[in-house]
Amino acid sequence: MRRMIIAGNWKMNKDIKETFDFILPLKNNLIGQNLSVEVVVCPPFTSLYVVSELLKETSIKLGAQNMFYEVEGAYTGEVSPKMLRSVRCEYVILGHSERRRYFYETDEIVNKKVKKALEFGLKPIICIGETLEERERGKTFEVIERQVKGTLSGLSADEVKSVVIAYEPVWAIGTGRNATPEQAQEAHKFIREVVSGLFDSDLADKLTIQYGGSVTAENAYSLLSQPDVDGALVGGASLKIDSFLKIVKAGEMAYLEKKD
Ligand code: 13P
Repeated sequence: MRRMIIAGNWKMNKDIKETFDFILPLKNNLIGQNLSVEVVVCPPFTSLYVVSELLKETSIKLGAQNMFYEVEGAYTGEVSPKMLRSVRCEYVILGHSERRRYFYETDEIVNKKVKKALEFGLKPIICIGETLEERERGKTFEVIERQVKGTLSGLSADEVKSVVIAYEPVWAIGTGRNATPEQAQEAHKFIREVVSGLFDSDLADKLTIQYGGSVTAENAYSLLSQPDVDGALVGGASLKIDSFLKIVKAGEMAYLEKKD
């Protein structure tokens, strides 16, 4: 059975006080729940250390939203995988469409980051997904295939075991227009096929593929109960404790049903 991962990508939200206001109730709500799903929070860099301290001795995992592919040196403004490990990050989101759009990250750059993250024992959550224009031009599968191949280029099968892929159609991010469960399932199944072709079907079967893009407490269950949807990467709805907890519950329910 594949891992189901519900991750909150806070993006550029929450200062230190707001971080406390979210993490303390999250911890209180999830403590002793013995969940099957993995819960990950990905705050901005400035909150990583505090969250790491607050989450000690819980099963809630910590992720960063980006990193650079060098370990240290004269790279003003960048944060390295070594630094992320030192605050006990386990995951790092790489190649988010907002990084691609505003900071011109390419599959090649993302691939360099993925390799460096793995070298330091971080699990990359690699984001891929087509724009609206690409979907309307019938290019969805072509784009997905190119991004999967580009970002996983040169990785060994063993390394891919630590990777998570997040399918985030750009047109669904922050728009309130989520992919339908059928659209998500179709894309996830295709991603698995591409990975199977690159490596083998056993590896592809074990790969966790999250869906991201306007996931809410209301639509989470229908998306997460799709056979190839193994979690959610949640933006807006991960900022409010109520909606995030509901999505975690939806994930748990979908996971247990799939297991039976
Ligand atoms: P929204 O859930 O706000 O659409 O954002 C999705 C996302 O980009 C998660 O990484």
